[in-house]
Amino acid sequence: MTEATIESVLQENRSFPPPAEFSQQAHIKSLEEYEQLYDRAKADPEAFWAELAEQELDWFQKWDRVLDWQPPFAQWFVNGKLNISYNCLDRHLTTWRRNKAALIWEGEPGDSCTYTYAQLHREVCQFANVLKQLGVQKGDVVGIYMPMIPEAAVAMLACARIGAPHTVVFGGFSAEALRDRLNDGKAKLVITADGGWRKDTIVPLKEQVDKALAEKAVPTVAHVLVVERTKQGVHMEAGRDHWWHDLRQGVSADCPAEPMDSEDMLFILYTSGSTGKPKGVVHTTGGYNLYTHMTTKWVFDLRDTDVYWCTADVGWITGHSYIVYGPLSNGATSLMYEGAPRPSNPGCFWDVIEKYGVNIFYTAPTAIRAFIKAGEHLPKARDLSSLRLLGTVGEPINPEAWMWYHRVIGGGRCPIVDTWWQTETGGHMLTPLPGAIPTKPGSATRPFPGILADVVDLEGNSVGTNEGGYLAIRYPWPGMMRTVYGDDDRFRRTYWEHIPPKDGQYFYFAGDGARKDADGYYWVMGRVDDVINVAGHRLGTMEIESALVSHPAVAEAAVVGKPDDLKGNEIVAFITLDGNVTPSEALKAELRQHVGNEIGAIARPGEIRFSDALPKTRSGKIMRRLLRSLAAGQEVSGDTSTLEDRSVLDKLREGV
Ligand code: PRX
Repeated sequence: MTEATIESVLQENRSFPPPAEFSQQAHIKSLEEYEQLYDRAKADPEAFWAELAEQELDWFQKWDRVLDWQPPFAQWFVNGKLNISYNCLDRHLTTWRRNKAALIWEGEPGDSCTYTYAQLHREVCQFANVLKQLGVQKGDVVGIYMPMIPEAAVAMLACARIGAPHTVVFGGFSAEALRDRLNDGKAKLVITADGGWRKDTIVPLKEQVDKALAEKAVPTVAHVLVVERTKQGVHMEAGRDHWWHDLRQGVSADCPAEPMDSEDMLFILYTSGSTGKPKGVVHTTGGYNLYTHMTTKWVFDLRDTDVYWCTADVGWITGHSYIVYGPLSNGATSLMYEGAPRPSNPGCFWDVIEKYGVNIFYTAPTAIRAFIKAGEHLPKARDLSSLRLLGTVGEPINPEAWMWYHRVIGGGRCPIVDTWWQTETGGHMLTPLPGAIPTKPGSATRPFPGILADVVDLEGNSVGTNEGGYLAIRYPWPGMMRTVYGDDDRFRRTYWEHIPPKDGQYFYFAGDGARKDADGYYWVMGRVDDVINVAGHRLGTMEIESALVSHPAVAEAAVVGKPDDLKGNEIVAFITLDGNVTPSEALKAELRQHVGNEIGAIARPGEIRFSDALPKTRSGKIMRRLLRSLAAGQEVSGDTSTLEDRSVLDKLREGV
């Protein structure tokens, strides 16, 4: 190794050009081609997107206008009519893809099945007809609380087919969290399963649905449609609950896709913010279809022969955009895996790659760090030579993990696409195009064509090279969220006012800090608001705090993140107890469980510290910055002059 290389390694300046043989066959073949595309899109975004919308999607009726931008409200492909389920299914049936595998599914216990496009279409149509029979109409919101089984995708596509917006709630969320989301969305029906397999145990989904709906706590829900998966025996409420396998008997598989307006709501997906209850992020039909289609095609550089696997859960935006809609719209083969690495089979992911000859593998940094910990003998014992492209999403990936992923999983030959995006953005925003953009470990590289990204200060001025600032988007894009469900004002406040409009230009900002290097590469530094990213899942501190405070023993709670090798961040809760309660280990366990019941296991604090008081400003605001330092075991630095009572800090250091 030369000195120059060592020096560049120390500066984190390693750069990996796309392998020549990859670029030759790629959709976008060179940096020049990317830059031309980027410049063309920047010069006239509407023409750029309109051309792609025409080429890549099927429309029942063409739009009158590409974009109607009344900041911060955008409409894309105004008066265009289409159906995303049609674009994901029907249009492939008249081509050779009719009998191509659309979904390959592998269950955790080792059972598996494959649906061709023709078979998936049939399932979706039948499912849609059953929904109609249960009274679901265009515009009705349907809740989906499912394990990772094919019927989850079928349910989503069936809702889309009849124009019923779905709201998928991650199966790891508790009954309380499910109830709140169903109530906020005013869901008419819930689709669930008896249970799902995860880490060798049954996740009792139907039981959670029963709890969520107990005593008519969600008055709008009239029916529950239950898919049989785990067969452990569940309560079925007469008149309300129905087995999917019973209702589908004799039901027609003829169900034409409903022509939807481009701006009709496709789904609501709840995500955590820094304040208040979770926000219902609203995505609509045409723009979302186009954006997920294009990002899937170019970022994963899809080929028709690929087996593509995204390990996310359908309960998150990644599952929506990159297991279901983006891949199927492209006519790809999308693999879905029910389970997770577990003590009985820590190498299960590598088994799946070998078994199906997976070519493209998309996962999260937290998973990669767990793979590193489990040991490279596991992947080394499998044939991973089918892989040609790797991806990551969910949080910043540390360069060490990137290098390990590249070397051990990618055999040094696979480009890695580190994709930065959010529930709100619908699809990838900053990302390499793997045949065109050289990668640097830890950087999400450059913006997708049509995305006018920038790093700015609070006045909306671009900051200098390598200076930290707020990651903002300067122009609408088709996949952007349209509003917060039922709360336009919250949408405006949360995303568009943090950086005030300047010279008529609006800035979309959703919470991340970043810097841009001399090559125009973005380095995302993580959240700058009170959102904690735990194992790639977004959790608002407020939500966890209100869950804690709802326990009778707790007077006040402040929650912060602490760096964690595996999960990125771990949740640390600082708690003051009610006057007559004695702190104990048992109480800590009880509080962790309480948060699990209120929100879900992912939100349980890893550490709880009791304290007589919390550090506050004179105006009563909890100084989380200080708590973050304390949680990380660092010296408290920076200005503490606004602290009301300095002795609190000393007490907190000592801990209870
Ligand atoms: O902080 C960023 C982080 O995840 C947040 C979005 O979370 P969510 O809406 O749950 O969507 C996750 C899947 C898209 C962002 O605000 N994030 C996501 N991807 C990356 C990332 N941070 C750094 N690098 C990434 N590639």
